[in-house]
Amino acid sequence: MSTVLYITSNPKSEKDSYSLKVGREFLNVYKVKNPGDSLFEIDTFKAGIPIIDKDVLKGWNRLISGTSFAMLTMEEQQKIKRIEKFTEQFIAADKYIFVTPMWNFTVPSMMKSYIDTMCIVNKTFKYTENGPEGLLIGKKAVHIQASGGVYSQGPAKDFEMGNKYIKNICRFLGINLAQSIFIEGIQADPNKTDEILNAAIVLAVKTAEVF
Ligand SMILES: Cc1cc2nc3c(=O)[nH]c(=O)nc-3n(C[C@H](O)[C@H](O)[C@H](O)COP(=O)(O)O)c2cc1C
Repeated sequence: MSTVLYITSNPKSEKDSYSLKVGREFLNVYKVKNPGDSLFEIDTFKAGIPIIDKDVLKGWNRLISGTSFAMLTMEEQQKIKRIEKFTEQFIAADKYIFVTPMWNFTVPSMMKSYIDTMCIVNKTFKYTENGPEGLLIGKKAVHIQASGGVYSQGPAKDFEMGNKYIKNICRFLGINLAQSIFIEGIQADPNKTDEILNAAIVLAVKTAEVF
């Protein structure tokens, strides 16, 4: 039995978003195949994820220099606790489904804030003599990304930083990114919209069956 996090980052409703549509298809198939799993949905636009601000940095630094948690200011305590809640939930999971639109070549800033709660030294990675080492070995992920343009091939390939970012973060933490599913070029040619969406759904269903 696995614990699965379905992590989205989109202010749109499912009916208006290609990535959320494909994500939901993935999830529906996954649920049928794995009825005993625990599934949690995190909408990063609604989850109230704290950003790493002055309070968080000051609080972390004070903890490192030996100050007890109780001696931190209320703001520092609350924000750090809230970040820890997301980190612990992430560590407790076995599988992750990231669903994002491409915004300005990468993921929306709310997903970036969420990723900042995933990358915590000595919890999800550690420094060793040989450099940083991920601590989430054995866990796996899928990334579903919708973009107006095409990036998996062609002249814009180098501009793609959304999937590349998720891929590298997973690698950094020791997570196996088992599959990336792109819904790309969907706005470039309206005649191809259905074809592109359906191909992504087929791949999502196939991936969900074995994830
Ligand atoms: C703020 C914003 C920035 C965008 N930036 C890009 C971009 O850099 N490259 C691109 O191909 N499409 C871009 N798009 C188009 C979206 O990637 C496209 O509409 C996609 O379908 C969004 O995913 P969704 O349908 O799941 O919301 C952008 C859209 C918005 C709203």
